[in-house]
Amino acid sequence: MSEQREHWKSKAGFILAAAGSAIGLGNIWKFPYIAGENGGAAFIFIYLICIALIGLPVLIAEVLLGRSTQRNPVGAFKKLSGKPFWIMIGSMGVIAGFVILSFYTVIAGWSIGYIVEALKGSFSQFSDPGISSSYFEELTGNVNWIVGYHTLFSILTMWVVYAGINKGIEQGSKIMMPVLFFLLVLLVIRGITLPGAEKGLAFLWSPDWSKISGQSVLIALGHAFFTISLGMGAMMTYGSYLSEKDNIPSASLQIVFLDTFIALLAGVAIFTAVFAMGQDPASGPGLIFVTLPVVFAKMPGGVIWAVLFFLLLTLAALTSAISLLEVVVAYFVDERKWKRHKAVMVFGFVVFLVGIPSALSFNVMKDVHFFGKTWFDNADYLASNILLPGGGLFISIFVGWIWGFDKVLIDLKKGSESLFTKYPMIIQAWRIFLRYLSPVMIMIVFLHSVGLLESAMHQLRTSWVMISLVCGLLYLFIQSRKK
Ligand code: PFF
Repeated sequence: MSEQREHWKSKAGFILAAAGSAIGLGNIWKFPYIAGENGGAAFIFIYLICIALIGLPVLIAEVLLGRSTQRNPVGAFKKLSGKPFWIMIGSMGVIAGFVILSFYTVIAGWSIGYIVEALKGSFSQFSDPGISSSYFEELTGNVNWIVGYHTLFSILTMWVVYAGINKGIEQGSKIMMPVLFFLLVLLVIRGITLPGAEKGLAFLWSPDWSKISGQSVLIALGHAFFTISLGMGAMMTYGSYLSEKDNIPSASLQIVFLDTFIALLAGVAIFTAVFAMGQDPASGPGLIFVTLPVVFAKMPGGVIWAVLFFLLLTLAALTSAISLLEVVVAYFVDERKWKRHKAVMVFGFVVFLVGIPSALSFNVMKDVHFFGKTWFDNADYLASNILLPGGGLFISIFVGWIWGFDKVLIDLKKGSESLFTKYPMIIQAWRIFLRYLSPVMIMIVFLHSVGLLESAMHQLRTSWVMISLVCGLLYLFIQSRKK
């Protein structure tokens, strides 16, 4: 028998848990370096537009789908449509949760490993990025190190989800999120008080429009999706534990605000320190695991700051990982009537196993390529470039066109009647964004990211994705005409 469905004890609990899902490696590791590489403030400006015009409307749609159906992504589409196509879209979300978690725990594991390295004083010998880089390669090249921390992080994730919505995810987020915020504020203060910090701020805040291209707009939009955990039903699943008295638009706005604010603070903390210590700000993905340890080595009290920083990164990753596992668990609890504990143990373990080849992609399986990429890169590619934008596209189409806008409005107004009476324009704008702007923009990102493939194998895959996409859209169009 299925267990009684839990609900968030408070609105703050939901907002912190959802913000916890949104704030993760994407904010602290990825956002600073992509902003740094794409013109600083100019990129941030474009990113903010993407968040406001696409991220927020799609987030409201996802949370609403969850709350209205009180189900996981598969159950939600089953309840509202019942058509195999839509059930498949829901399943894609569950699969995306599975795939993202399998490689997310590997990177998050490095973060725990770096706390230990910092405590051991390993960073003190990093007089230049070359040394730091070889040390990083040595660590990730060690199977025991990488699989060991992947295991540890997976167990932590399972532990929180095992405890349930209230005692695990809600309680955990209520503790971890304020700690995360506090650590970040400390790091920002440390960063901006270092001599030379102003160069870092100037780098981040002076727009360099010459670096903005079509490509940067696409990166901004793609990142907007990943960072708000959109397109795979994580927010839908969290929304399914909401009650009807909660105001979805206002909660969504707060989640988006927190996510953006934390990303900006992370940018400030990192770039002020990087510039003050004379390091290269455009070191790309290696910024956190290669450049920052050098920065800490040069900073007074660097050991403490390094520990705090990697603790912050671990907490951010943990509150995101639990939302990924929860999507898979909710599916088995709702649809297969499994007990939560059994679902967590079984699928936590399966995700852990699927993550092992991702961990090995940095050492023994480095040269084992499928479709021209390592296992890790394939998992990342599949989730970030195909499953998430695909999911986001269809969620916008479903809520904008298929569900029936009258029904959508009745549900959306629950808990937010006064907002819509005061500002009726909001509904019109939301409808337009969901119906036209989001699908078109997401489709552009989707085709672009698929179009980046270069090899013949990839070309083939491109055609298949495009053909399936066109068929899917045609099908949708015919369905909507039938109504
Ligand atoms: N939003 C997370 C980050 O920025 O790191 C990543 C993520 C978590 C994506 C949960 C999707 C998801 F469902």
